[in-house]
Amino acid sequence: MNPLQNPLHPDRNLGMELVRATEAAAIRSYQLIGKGDKMAVDGTAVDAMRAFLGTVSFRGTVVIGEGEKDAAPMLFNGEVVGNGTGPECDVAVDPIDGTSLAAAGRQNAVSVIAVSDRGSMLDASSVFYMDKLVTGAEGVGVVDIRLPIAENIRLLAKAKGKSVNEMIIAVLDRPRHAALIQEIREAGAGTRLLLDGDVAGGIHAARYESRIDMCVGTGGSPEGIVTACAVKAFGGVVQGIMRPKDEAERDRGLDAGLLMDHVYEINDLVTSDNTIFVATGVTDGGLVEGVRRKGPIIRTDSIILRGLSGTIRRVSADYRADRWL
Ligand code: FBP
Repeated sequence: MNPLQNPLHPDRNLGMELVRATEAAAIRSYQLIGKGDKMAVDGTAVDAMRAFLGTVSFRGTVVIGEGEKDAAPMLFNGEVVGNGTGPECDVAVDPIDGTSLAAAGRQNAVSVIAVSDRGSMLDASSVFYMDKLVTGAEGVGVVDIRLPIAENIRLLAKAKGKSVNEMIIAVLDRPRHAALIQEIREAGAGTRLLLDGDVAGGIHAARYESRIDMCVGTGGSPEGIVTACAVKAFGGVVQGIMRPKDEAERDRGLDAGLLMDHVYEINDLVTSDNTIFVATGVTDGGLVEGVRRKGPIIRTDSIILRGLSGTIRRVSADYRADRWL
């Protein structure tokens, strides 16, 4: 029997253990926020996350690691994490999504871990970029990444009972998105341009109470898998199409079994609904507040999303600063 069907026999939620690892990554990064050293922020967050992942009661394998793009420090793909007991899991880590944001002291940097049943995450590491479309539950069976953006906006607006000019679409602010941004605006919708961090952008698009209706554009494939783990909790849409940057990357993707010109739906990106997504704010953002010092206390703000139950937990933690900084 599914333990969730019997509230008297709740199963374990690894999220409560995993959140310590994202909290640790955020706290350790605190003194490096705004200091301009991207590699130092990332390295510090990776080390803190790795140490705390070692205490979690699971047998995790890192399927989505970080760092290949810019030779950043990484929790590498294939690395075994956890204390060696409990369920076998796939693990996706993004010790800081928005490393440049944190290094610059800008908003919206988060520390992220996503976990799902072993073997359920798509290993998209051979192709760095993916075209993505993310919406909340209203978009299911409505939007399609192959359609022109204006059409998707119109369809989603209708499904949400909004007018097109009330729609807000999040897009990474990149030169490659100039035409996309123009099309969104010509359709009558507004944009929310993201400096970085399309995981938080995607979650915003899927949340019930958010002002953002959809997140689109080309971003990291690893972030696409992580977003899929989170959006399962909202029953929303994540669609992705691999976007190799050249022939060699395309060939590497094909050799790794990835399909090109193919729409990966949320359940292809992560085949299990047994997902846990944990994020702690590094700098302030709409999803979570950044880590902050309040006298003798360091306060963290985190969110834990569970795919199976759809539970959304907000966790605030006060740490003793003298033990951490
Ligand atoms: P990192 O901070 O982990 O490097 O990623 C930031 C990010 O903005 C992601 O959220 C996004 O998917 C990706 O980079 C976009 O890549 P690029 O900066 O090359 O456009």
